[in-house]
Amino acid sequence: MAIIEARALARTFPAKRGRNAEDVVAVAGVDLTVEEGEIVGFLGPNGAGKTTTLRMLTTLLKPTSGSATVAGYDVATNPVDVRRNIGYVSQSGSTAPEARAGEEVVDHGLLYGISKARAEARGKELFEQLDLGGLWERQPKAMSGGQRRRLDIAMGLVHDPKLVFLDEPTTGLDPQARANLWTHISDLRNVRGNTVFLTTHYLDEADALCDRILVIDKGVIVASDTPEALKQQISGDLVLLEVSAPHEVEAAVRQLRAAGSSDPEVDGHTVSARVPAAATILPGLVRELDGADVRLVSIDVRRPTLDDVFLTVTGRSLREGA
Ligand SMILES: Nc1ncnc2c1ncn2[C@@H]1O[C@H](COP(=O)(O)OP(=O)(O)OP(=O)(O)O)[C@@H](O)[C@H]1O
Ligand SMILES: [Mg+2]
Repeated sequence: MAIIEARALARTFPAKRGRNAEDVVAVAGVDLTVEEGEIVGFLGPNGAGKTTTLRMLTTLLKPTSGSATVAGYDVATNPVDVRRNIGYVSQSGSTAPEARAGEEVVDHGLLYGISKARAEARGKELFEQLDLGGLWERQPKAMSGGQRRRLDIAMGLVHDPKLVFLDEPTTGLDPQARANLWTHISDLRNVRGNTVFLTTHYLDEADALCDRILVIDKGVIVASDTPEALKQQISGDLVLLEVSAPHEVEAAVRQLRAAGSSDPEVDGHTVSARVPAAATILPGLVRELDGADVRLVSIDVRRPTLDDVFLTVTGRSLREGA
């Protein structure tokens, strides 16, 4: 059963006063389905409409048009039931700098209607799981960025929701803290069985974490698939063959054509070409070249990146937008 289902979900913000002012179409009409147990990445540049979509799905913002059900409840007519079933970790975080970390988590649990004892037990368990052991009495302002982000996640999980929304969970963290948080996010699903819907503008993050990626640009979804399929569908793998002598170049070109490449490129002793699936064709390719007495100096295979994908679907690099 789908745990999130949105149909033509849209949100427009009224124009500020002024001549020629136009309404801001933050989300133009989003259709999406998320199945239980998936980790789905919502990827797009700054201003694409990620947070606005998330705020509608979490009932913090009313859609201008369209509809959505989350955890089986309609966001417009049944927001209270939606909220009981979800955790939301906002882009900016939500801890008060002066409070004690543990108190914050317990207060958050009370807000969701669970008992103090239950909130404390859950909070302590989450602190262990999120590597926050020993920080229960610490003030958030005295924590590192990565610790504070994990505290935000603990707050979003204290009432044991089955679906977790994370808005840019790792923005602003150093590479090591990001990788560490990825492990914890994977564990939400792998250990706890949660469904995770996260936004990011990091391609490597979406690639490393997500079963499926939705690419949003200017308020509409422009691509949706597994990271592998997206990369495959867009460009194929780049194979580079370096041969040892000039007369072998022609044989390498011929074999790459036979393997399904339309236009191999030659650069000195190196022949490069895009092929549909390098892992499948490489063994045969190497055998053929060996049979034709071509001595290979090196073979290099480059998988397409999600950046290639984004460029292809939007015509712009994700980094330009960010
Ligand atoms: N309350 C608001 N009033 C007016 N315009 C808004 C409001 N909230 C968002 N917008 C506009 O809607 C568009 C989408 O914003 P949104 O915050 O959803 O983008 P985002 O994809 O989350 O971007 P980022 O990666 O920077 O977080 C932007 O043009 C933004 O300026
Ligand atoms: Mg945002």
